[in-house]
Amino acid sequence: IRLAIYPGTFDPLTNGHISIIHRAKHLFDKIIIAVAQDSGKKPLFSIEERVSMINTTFFSDHMVDVENFSGLLVDYVEKKNAKTILRGLRAVSDFEYEFQTSLMNRKLCPEIETIFLISDYKWLYISSTVVKTVASLGGDVTDFVPENVLICLKTKYCQ
Ligand code: ACO
Repeated sequence: IRLAIYPGTFDPLTNGHISIIHRAKHLFDKIIIAVAQDSGKKPLFSIEERVSMINTTFFSDHMVDVENFSGLLVDYVEKKNAKTILRGLRAVSDFEYEFQTSLMNRKLCPEIETIFLISDYKWLYISSTVVKTVASLGGDVTDFVPENVLICLKTKYCQ
């Protein structure tokens, strides 16, 4: 089967990520959303909370699995017998980081390719950080995250 690994911190999952996943379903048979423990970020939500939120969102979707991983991404991808890493690109600002990371991953494991989907223009200006900032200050983020993530954000920020 055509398997893609979609890695990220997902702190939390946003409609931007969901859009990439739905579009990738036309290209792959299965997508594993791989939630990173070692992304170098200090997440608001624990790894269990991040995995659980994505599981709830994709509960009835048999094309999508959710797992967490630690250590090197390429080691995890190899362990899953996958050949493809899926990433979304929002703007030129994402490019430099993605360029460096994908080249490093290719150097570490030449058999694995990274495939990029350009984000839908609707989600170009959002990121997990922007969503958290707005939510923490009491702003309405209904349009940017699925319902279950919205509830988790409100609980986290005691709203
Ligand atoms: N729409 C809207 N927002 C998006 C979209 C989209 N389609 N795609 C990404 N974003 C946002 C995210 O919300 C996130 O926002 P934030 O920075 O405010 O949190 C940001 O863009 C990028 O985040 P993610 O896509 O979640 O990816 P992230 O950069 O957090 O994850 C990764 C990186 C893949 C987990 C990487 O750190 C990794 O592979 N870690 C494992 C360890 C490893 O192998 N490291 C070596 C890599 S090689 C190297 O680093 C050079």
